[in-house]
Amino acid sequence: MSFFWESYCKARALAAGASFEETAQYMEHIEDLLTTAQLQSLDGIEHHKDTSLLTHVRCVSYVAYLLCARFGGDCKITSRGGLLHDLYYYDWHDFSDKSHRFHGFRHPTSALKNAQALLGELDKRTANCIKRHMFPFTPLPPVYREAVWVSVADKICASYDVLISRFPRLRRRFEADTKKLKKSATRR
Ligand SMILES: [Fe+2]
Ligand SMILES: [Fe+2]
Repeated sequence: MSFFWESYCKARALAAGASFEETAQYMEHIEDLLTTAQLQSLDGIEHHKDTSLLTHVRCVSYVAYLLCARFGGDCKITSRGGLLHDLYYYDWHDFSDKSHRFHGFRHPTSALKNAQALLGELDKRTANCIKRHMFPFTPLPPVYREAVWVSVADKICASYDVLISRFPRLRRRFEADTKKLKKSATRR
């Protein structure tokens, strides 16, 4: 399996409740945040087809953590920034609500406000992970390495989410690889 594909499959397995020996450190970084009512409320919101917003932010957080562990940066900030990057509480497909207009441009600001409401003032790197994750869709690029990993992980996870929902063969491969990973997790 390629690094990106395996990271994505493992992130999805983690989001579905599997635990792996090598993910213990990662879980320590995010556990307190993941169990908040605000994060858990994302479970009921559809993000991409067959993927809730909670599954998405968990995937982005873990893939960004792996990129950070491999290429450098603060892994705790990256993991938490990934979890917070889409902290908004609505279904962006619901166009009947005018406040959802221009979602692609506006939701990083909403997510930052919600993250500040949850955690108080954020350090500049965590704030940057949230505010700049939509680059290049939004014009300003991430400034810190941690924010780069979150932005890259967001593209990886969103692309795979869409691809596996559209291509049954890839979906089957995803299911087989995730099952394999889950089995290896329970054997440890
Ligand atoms: Fe986003
Ligand atoms: Fe996202």
